[in-house]
Amino acid sequence: MLDYTNSDLRLTANQSLSGKTQWISPSNLALIKYWGKYGRQLPRNPSISFTLDTAATTTTLSYRTKETPGDTIKLDFKFDGQPNEAFRAKLVKFLTSIVDIFPFLTQLAFSVESSNSFPHSAGIASSASSMSALALCLCTVEKEIFGTLNDKTEFYKKASYVARLGSGSACRSVYDTMAVWGETPEVVGSSDLYAVPFREQLHEIYHDFHDDILIVSKGEKSVSSSAGHGLMEGNIFADNRYAQANTRFAELQVALKNGDLEAFGQITENEALTLHALMMTSEPSYILMRPNTLAQIELLREFRNDTKLPVYFSLDAGPNLHLLYPDNIAAPVQDFIEATLLPLCEKGEIIKDRAGKGPQEV
Ligand code: DP6
Repeated sequence: MLDYTNSDLRLTANQSLSGKTQWISPSNLALIKYWGKYGRQLPRNPSISFTLDTAATTTTLSYRTKETPGDTIKLDFKFDGQPNEAFRAKLVKFLTSIVDIFPFLTQLAFSVESSNSFPHSAGIASSASSMSALALCLCTVEKEIFGTLNDKTEFYKKASYVARLGSGSACRSVYDTMAVWGETPEVVGSSDLYAVPFREQLHEIYHDFHDDILIVSKGEKSVSSSAGHGLMEGNIFADNRYAQANTRFAELQVALKNGDLEAFGQITENEALTLHALMMTSEPSYILMRPNTLAQIELLREFRNDTKLPVYFSLDAGPNLHLLYPDNIAAPVQDFIEATLLPLCEKGEIIKDRAGKGPQEV
């Protein structure tokens, strides 16, 4: 089994250095959802997602040799230019948990500045973009100091592995367009430990697929994703759900390869509703959809019935509807969104996103 524990990644005594790295990394939207985990961030089922473009985190990581050596993580952290103690504490905890992978983490003093392209607390999952950006920065630091990870495939594989330890879904964000995480016989080379790219297998209709995120509510989630994963352990539907995810994965990857949008839409919508059904049937039960989420779903299905246009929805662990459609029907779909769905969004807010080019080093 792949093991990145590496005691060689240590500075030699009196080695004094400093540097800076910056990555912009996107969020992603899962079509087959990762919901349920075990062990050290291992998924209960395989998942597949669109890598987005507009919704992204920019992270700048500066480092210099610590003045006084020690075993703890030294970190300054700013979010949107402001110190943020809650985020800082989370990051320190994460970095402490990966000292076995990057022993140099306790030898350097770090300063991290992060900001999101999407409005602060727009109810958009930010752990995928932020954790992937951080993992990419850490791999760049390793590369700069130790001259390792020069092979691009190795670089992204390790970045994905490290991102997973920060937040499961983040491991899929390091690849453009679409990525798969979780071992499945459907995808050669797939692994529970890191994501693999899926663009090569994809029908070209999906290359520039739209994902418009309708901001139904910007409120904080009542239950975090991490807590939600935990509740799957007691959910009586859990075993059937994991089996279903595997079957659906097999079906969806056929539709992704041959461009069958109807099958794509049917599986994608069902997955989104299954995710929320699992939340509703957890103990304690909770509901993240809002009345306007359901209203928009009904209006979308009506529109699809009337026009026969292949536009479908998905949901993350939140109330905001993602509208998925190919570029060749963008004009009528966007007219419909503007006239019918936007009035049901909080302050008429929407993030017009699409399958993207993946993370960029600045
Ligand atoms: C519904 O990756 O946020 O978005 O691993 O605890 O950080 P942690 O959870 P997270 O869960 C994502 C759940 C999801 C589905 C998905 O992205 O696959």
